[in-house]
Amino acid sequence: MKNTLIAPSVLAADFANLQRDIEMINNSEADWFHIDIMDGVFVPNISFGMPVLNAISKHAKKTIDVHLMIIDPDRYISTFKKLGADILTVHYEACTHLHRSLQAIKAEGMKAGVAINPHTNISLLEDTIKDIDLVCIMSVNPGFGGQSFIENTYKKVAQLKEIITRNGASTLIEIDGGVTNKNAKQLVDAGADVLVAGSYVFGAQDPIATIADLKKITQ
Ligand code: DX5
Ligand code: ZN
Repeated sequence: MKNTLIAPSVLAADFANLQRDIEMINNSEADWFHIDIMDGVFVPNISFGMPVLNAISKHAKKTIDVHLMIIDPDRYISTFKKLGADILTVHYEACTHLHRSLQAIKAEGMKAGVAINPHTNISLLEDTIKDIDLVCIMSVNPGFGGQSFIENTYKKVAQLKEIITRNGASTLIEIDGGVTNKNAKQLVDAGADVLVAGSYVFGAQDPIATIADLKKITQ
């Protein structure tokens, strides 16, 4: 039996009732909080920033998985540690010296993640895979919640799984964007370990039951 991890994306929460939505995740079978930070430059949207993450961290009782969709993320690595990040993910496309960024994240005591856009070939991670704790495969173009899942993702998951196995790495595979009960099982069968779900969870009548269902169908 696989223990697939479910990471609700707080981007889809009700920001006027953020504490209520954080408590909902605390009381659910969800494993992680997925936090999307956007700068309006790397992606065409601005989400929320440091004071909001600081507030979330005070109430969140689970692993905080921070997805940085920002240029030049090296500038903020120690700041995000202080804000409560347990896992810090930078974009492959935003890092000139990816290996250096990964080492800097680990030096702060966080797990180091790399997110990869839909157009970026997974083979580009071959030379750094042993240094990466988590690869976040974007299954939509980053910047917005509620977009449709890109079907080519299954192929990328299988390719990444093969690279991880061949290199003897223990990297987790996370999928981010358009995840629902329709694609969750197939993603896990292809090799996914962590599923991010935003609008599917927070848009549901019963988010707690929706999280439990995602958990159940992916074991
Ligand atoms: C997109 C973000 C995602 C987003 C997922 O740029 O990285 O984490 O919140 O939202 P859904 O699940 O609605 O596609
Ligand atoms: Zn994300």
